[in-house]
Amino acid sequence: MKNVYIETYGCQMNQADSGIVGKVLVENGYSLVNNQDDADVILINTCAVRDNAEKRIHNRVHDLQSLKKKNPLLKIGIIGCMAERLKDSLINEDKAEIVCGPDSYRRIHELIDLNGGIDTELSKEETYEDIIPVELNSDGISAFISVMRGCENFCTYCVVPYTRGKERSRSPESVIAQAKKLFDEGYRDITLLGQNVNSYIYNEDGKDVRFAELLIRVAKINPLLRVRFATSHPKDLSEELVDAVASYNNICKYIHLPVQSGSDAMLAKMNRKYTSEQYLQKIDLIRKKIPDCAISTDVIAGFCGETLEDHNRTLEIFRKVRYDSAYMFKYSDRPGTVAHKRFEDDIEEKEKVRRLQEIIDLQRELSLESNQKDIGKIFEVLVEGESKRDKTKYFGRTSQNKVVIFDKQDNKKGDYINVIIENCTSATLFGKKI
Ligand code: SAH
Ligand code: SF4
Ligand code: F3S
Repeated sequence: MKNVYIETYGCQMNQADSGIVGKVLVENGYSLVNNQDDADVILINTCAVRDNAEKRIHNRVHDLQSLKKKNPLLKIGIIGCMAERLKDSLINEDKAEIVCGPDSYRRIHELIDLNGGIDTELSKEETYEDIIPVELNSDGISAFISVMRGCENFCTYCVVPYTRGKERSRSPESVIAQAKKLFDEGYRDITLLGQNVNSYIYNEDGKDVRFAELLIRVAKINPLLRVRFATSHPKDLSEELVDAVASYNNICKYIHLPVQSGSDAMLAKMNRKYTSEQYLQKIDLIRKKIPDCAISTDVIAGFCGETLEDHNRTLEIFRKVRYDSAYMFKYSDRPGTVAHKRFEDDIEEKEKVRRLQEIIDLQRELSLESNQKDIGKIFEVLVEGESKRDKTKYFGRTSQNKVVIFDKQDNKKGDYINVIIENCTSATLFGKKI
C-alpha cells in the first residue's frame, strides 16, 4: 500500500493543496505515481462549488469501483471541499474509504495507514506554511503559492466559507522562502493564491504585513520572476495594491476582479458588499493607474429572483468594463448556504442556460475585440512549453495573461522573448519573435 495517485479538480487552491498532500505522503514513505493503474491508493481532490462539479466526482468514484475488482486492496480517498461538505456520506454512499477535509492533510497518511477513515475538522490556524509542497503535474515554469486560506465573506450563493473555514494568512517569510526555492529551480511565473487574497494580513514582529507589501516582497526576489495573484474581492481591492501592480514590471498587468452580477439588487442579495457603481470605480482606478492592465471576471447567471432587467444590467456592465476574459456560470443552488435557506431558486434551467449563453456570446465578442487591439503590438512573452496543437510551435503568455503561439526557433522554456502579434482568435494570439 505505498503508491498513491492524486487527481485534482476545482480551483487553483486545490492544485496547491494537492502538492501539500503529496509532500506529506512522500515524507511518510509513500510514492506518488502518475497513473491510476499503478496505484494502491487513489486520492481525488474535489470541488463543491457547483452541483455539476460534484456530480462529476460521484461518477468518477463510481467508475473507480471497477478497478477494485482487479485490485481488491485499492483504497479510494475523497479529499478537499466535497469531503468537507459531504463527510461520511462519501463512505456510506460513494464507497470511498478515506475522507479528508482541507485542514486535515497533515493526517492523510494516518488515514491511509488505518486502512481508511474520516477527518473533516476545520482549523482556525492551519496554513501548512512549514510544508514545502511537491509540484504535481508541473511544467517547470508556472507554480501556485497559497498565501492565505479560508473565506469569511459569506456570499449567499457560495459554499466555500463552509468548506474552507476561517480566513488565516501564512507568514511572509514562508511565502518568500517558497518563492525563492521555486525561482532557483527554474520557475518563472508564480501565482499567489487565496479565496480572498486582498485580505491577507500577517502580524510580523508587531507590524501588520498586508497583501500589497507581500506582493512587492515576492516581486523583489528577482526581476525575472513573474508574479500574479488571485482572487481579489472588489470591496478589498486597495489603491495600494493597484499602485504595487503599476510600479513593478514583473508584477503581471492582469487583475481578476469577479463582478458576479451587474445588478445592484442581485449584488445586495448575493451579499457582495459593493454596488455596480463602486465596482466600476475600482475598474476606473485600475485603468487610470495601469492603462495596459487586462481585467477578467466571474459572473453568475440566473441567481434567485434575477429579472430580465437584472440580467441586462449584467450584460451592460460587461459592455462597460470590456473584460479581456471571463469565467461564466449559471447559478447552482448549494445546500447549507444562505441563498438555499432564504431564497427560492426560481429561474428555470432553460432560462438560466439562455442567459448564460447570452453572456458567453457577448464575452466572445469582447475577448476578440481585446485580442484584435493587440495586433501589431509587441509583448514580452515567457516561453512556457510546446503548443498542444502544433509541435513546431511554442506557447507562452503575456503579462496580461493572454496565450501567444509562435515559432520555436532557438528559444527554450523559461526564456523571455519579444513577440509581435500578427493574428488572433477570441482565445489566442499568434505572433512572431522579433
Ligand atoms: N473567492 C473567489 C472565487 C470563488 S469560487 C471569489 O470570490 O471570486 C469561483 C466562482 O464560482 C465564483 O466567483 C462564482 O462566480 C462561482 N460560484 C460560486 N458559487 C456558485 C454557485 N452556487 N453557483 C454558480 N456559480 C458559483
Ligand atoms: Fe465564495 Fe464570496 Fe468567498 Fe468568493 S468571496 S469564496 S464567492 S464566499
Ligand atoms: Fe471548489 Fe473548494 Fe476551490 S469548493 S472552487 S475547490 S475552494
